[in-house]
Amino acid sequence: MAPETPVIQINDLHKAYGALEVLKGVSLSAPKGNVISLIGSSGSGKSTLLRCCNLLEDSQQGEILFKGEPVRWKGTGHGRRPSDPKQVLRIRTNLSMVFQQFNLWSHMTILQNVMEAPLTVLGRDRAEVEEAARGYLEKVGIGDKCDVYPAQLSGGQQQRAAIARGLCMEPEALLFDEPTSALDPELEQEVVRVIKDLATEGRTMLIVTHDMKLAADVSDHVIFLHQGLIEEQGAPDILFGAPKSERLRGFLSATHAT
Ligand SMILES: Nc1ncnc2c1ncn2[C@@H]1O[C@H](COP(=O)(O)OP(=O)(O)O)[C@@H](O)[C@H]1O
Ligand SMILES: [Mg+2]
Repeated sequence: MAPETPVIQINDLHKAYGALEVLKGVSLSAPKGNVISLIGSSGSGKSTLLRCCNLLEDSQQGEILFKGEPVRWKGTGHGRRPSDPKQVLRIRTNLSMVFQQFNLWSHMTILQNVMEAPLTVLGRDRAEVEEAARGYLEKVGIGDKCDVYPAQLSGGQQQRAAIARGLCMEPEALLFDEPTSALDPELEQEVVRVIKDLATEGRTMLIVTHDMKLAADVSDHVIFLHQGLIEEQGAPDILFGAPKSERLRGFLSATHAT
């Protein structure tokens, strides 16, 4: 891959649920090592955009490229689907998703949760995966929680386990959908610290967040979505420091007020 080839690139993406147009022509590019934050009001299409990136959602028009490789489609419009299951699997396993609600398996220990996908999806060697999984749990600060079940952990610890699970796939990029929204403020900070460490390491990340401080601190680029279109985007100091659009100014003042 040439250094300038983005890990994820989206060109003019359109997505509707039935008659409801949710993405109306969105483009973005996530170069390797960059952190891109997506902000905007509830319902603006942030989660949908993130889910389109790793093909959890279909889209009707526009291109999605993974490391320069365009997703191949069959059909058009509402009938458009990815045509190559192997390509879908390769893209999905390379873009680890971290959800607001953690989505850990409740019947598996934390270690088993982290080891599950590398073993079953990637078919990697068990001993190697276990060593890596313990290492990632250590890295996110819960190396002592390998043998407990998710219900025995705080929300912040569960979310850190979910991040370790994402890392254990050794993906090209991590996609976060409101990773701190389900957490109390003091637990939120322990997850924010992990995300900041990952940003410092040069991980490629796409982060949907309501936390403007997090977006300002970690992002190389911030995208403000409004009703399925990019209303404004730019470097965080400019976007937050000197927002141009009335809508972004309104959104930021409403966010700061809460
Ligand atoms: N599975 C779905 N079926 C129908 N409409 C959906 C579905 N998921 C999301 N939507 C709608 O799409 C719009 C954008 O949703 P979403 O991407 O979740 O926004 P955000 O993450 O910015 O809050 C909203 O109007 C939402 O109600
Ligand atoms: Mg959302």
